[in-house]
Amino acid sequence: MKNFLNDSVITLDPLKLPKHVAIIMDGNGRWAKSKGLPRAYGHKVGAEVAKKIIYKTRELGIPYLTLFAFSKENWFRPPEEISTLLELLKIYLDAELEEMKKQGIRFKVIGDKADFPKDLQEKLEFIEKTTQENEKMVLCMALSYGGKNEIIKAVKKLAEEIKEGKISPEEIDEGLFRKFLDTKDIPDPDLLIRTSGEMRISNFLLFQLAYTELYFTPIYWPDFDEKEYLKALYSYQQRERRFGRIYEP
Ligand code: IPE
Ligand code: IPE
Ligand code: MG
Repeated sequence: MKNFLNDSVITLDPLKLPKHVAIIMDGNGRWAKSKGLPRAYGHKVGAEVAKKIIYKTRELGIPYLTLFAFSKENWFRPPEEISTLLELLKIYLDAELEEMKKQGIRFKVIGDKADFPKDLQEKLEFIEKTTQENEKMVLCMALSYGGKNEIIKAVKKLAEEIKEGKISPEEIDEGLFRKFLDTKDIPDPDLLIRTSGEMRISNFLLFQLAYTELYFTPIYWPDFDEKEYLKALYSYQQRERRFGRIYEP
């Protein structure tokens, strides 16, 4: 698999591509500020970048992509900024549904859909439903998502089932616990990309990132492009994933 990077050629090993890429799309506000523009403009450009990265992922044949689009904590931002973000989400969902269907992309939300206004909730559910048979790629959007919240919700559901006598505490293991997470039908990410230079997880996929390779870049999300994406994938392919074992070539 050949992809061009600057004037040189980046050769990605098609057999060593991650199965699941997760991205913390960060830096829209600072990108806009650095250009003397309103934060909303950064989000607008950021949404366009997200779209490009989604279809690039599909083109590369990577079967799972998770995008952190709105966190539980982002509800503490000013109401105008929240409206901008939700408005953009609606616009892109409407605009891209047909293309997602055409490209065999299944859309899935993790996080609390119920936190959103009814019309957006219904839109998200409709798109999840209309794309549920698609098998080429899963696009997982983390919306009103927080890792701690997801784990606590899982524990509550599990406790409920124990109380009802459906599960006994002895049966609990990693496999069973996973079934209670929002990501139940999705493998753990192989690669996490975070833009904007921040070196933190910000309450994203706390359980699922246990053995994920981390890639941080100072580039703000609106400047992230295919070339930067290929660089991240190339970096991933140079890593030696040991999972606590001793590496034997
Ligand atoms: C990422 O950009 C988008 C969301 C968190 C929704 P930010 O809005 O966090 O941009 P910065 O980090 O303030 O620059
Ligand atoms: C993480 O970015 C959330 C999303 C990208 C949606 P934030 O900008 O909210 O993270 P912090 O506040 O810098 O940790
Ligand atoms: Mg940020």
